[in-house]
Amino acid sequence: MEWTREERYRPYQQYSALELLHLQAAADNSPEQLRYHIRPSSGLLNDPNGFSYFNHAWHVFYQSFPFGATHGLKSWMHMQSTDLVHWHSRGLALTPDNEYDSHGAYSGSAKQIGDRLFLMYTGNHRDQDWNRTPFQLGAWMNQNNQVTKLKQPLFRNPDYISEHFRDPQLLEYDGKYYALLGAQDAKTETGHLALWASDDLQDGWHDVGLTNFTPYPMGYMIECPNLVMIDDHAVLIFCPQGLEQKITHYDNIYPNTYIIGDEFDFENATLKGSSQVPVNLDEGFDVYATQAFNAPDGTAYAISWVGLPDINYPTDEQTWANCLSQVKELHIRNGQLYQQPVAAMTNLRDPKGTKVFSNRTSIIDDHAGQQCELNLTISADQTGVLHLAANEDLSASLQIQFDTNTGALTVDRSRVGATVAKKYGTTRSIKLPAHQDLKLQIFLDHSLAEIFVNDGEQVLTLRYFADQQHQKIAFAQPINATGSLYQLKNI
Ligand code: FRU
Repeated sequence: MEWTREERYRPYQQYSALELLHLQAAADNSPEQLRYHIRPSSGLLNDPNGFSYFNHAWHVFYQSFPFGATHGLKSWMHMQSTDLVHWHSRGLALTPDNEYDSHGAYSGSAKQIGDRLFLMYTGNHRDQDWNRTPFQLGAWMNQNNQVTKLKQPLFRNPDYISEHFRDPQLLEYDGKYYALLGAQDAKTETGHLALWASDDLQDGWHDVGLTNFTPYPMGYMIECPNLVMIDDHAVLIFCPQGLEQKITHYDNIYPNTYIIGDEFDFENATLKGSSQVPVNLDEGFDVYATQAFNAPDGTAYAISWVGLPDINYPTDEQTWANCLSQVKELHIRNGQLYQQPVAAMTNLRDPKGTKVFSNRTSIIDDHAGQQCELNLTISADQTGVLHLAANEDLSASLQIQFDTNTGALTVDRSRVGATVAKKYGTTRSIKLPAHQDLKLQIFLDHSLAEIFVNDGEQVLTLRYFADQQHQKIAFAQPINATGSLYQLKNI
């Protein structure tokens, strides 16, 4: 269904409660719907926002257009958890309801200040002629999850930055507040990270300057920046749009990348000791707008939008779209970023549904279901194909092709079911050390696969749209492998 601009920006009040209930039922009853990940209660979900710890709980919000599978008028939907795995909806937290966020409460971050949570976000405002002004806005959330917006914007784009100025990450350093934002130079139309500062959060925001973090051009815009400390390294995670392929190879329409530094110099807006070349955060088909933050104990956690701007998915027809990844714990080992499931993910394992297998394995399970975790180690020097979400004769499946002689691994979603974004390719490949055992931890949730390789040294996240009856997991021929398969519970 094609949406007109007018339909996409219709005020929420014009929808009836009944319409929303129908949309919620459609999303909830979809066979492809996820059961242990954050997914839209109705309509479209995109970026995670405001990922934080506050009032003895974890919080994450997501960009929501509740009335259909299209990028319409956006709000923040609030989710809360005590273990980073079981999430409960707390409903809409920020809705577009004033002049400054009239065309969407766009992405941003959250930080506990005193006994409240400060939400900082971009208000998308358009005038009659559809000219956009991005306002950086603030709101307080109290311990009862009640949100009160500040009456006035914190700041707006200076003259040398175009209308593309958004997604503030609020940071605190040395008694001062900082905001890191995605920005486009108005004259050159190039992508940058802007740094702004304030002594007291609500007033006196001033421009520190554009951040120095790479000598390479970053395309025409950078979205969703995050600065996070990981094992004593300052790491920037961001989404450069229009990045040249010769700087970083990527296959998706837009990449989500990171750069590791030694430390971040806030006064001079500089990432010191930068690794300079952006690296793909995820090697799969569908990760974007990842948001990371440091918990009170310093641990870095990240959560990603599994979906991409300007890409349609088969379930759009069912009026809902996209989901969030599971929460990933971040570490740096040997100069490389590792992403791992959080400890509480093991609580989802159903003790009745565990199966252990070892050596010369071909069929792992004929009816593994679409809601499982597969942990396996494939011995070195073998070539084969692992079929997931497969039919009986393995002619339809999500394939993982591996060669542990050379260290090649390819995920192929061309034969699993309905196609997605074919224009951007149906396979994704990575290179691993040769002649070594291959460790895979694979999570399937109906239409989402998260593949952690070698303890999170690489991750491939993707949506797949299989016949839900295709539940076989098997190698094409017997393979030396050991491991276990767990059925996972709903959250
Ligand atoms: C990224 C993004 C952000 C913006 C939000 C709007 O996906 O375009 O830059 O704030 O989505 O929903």
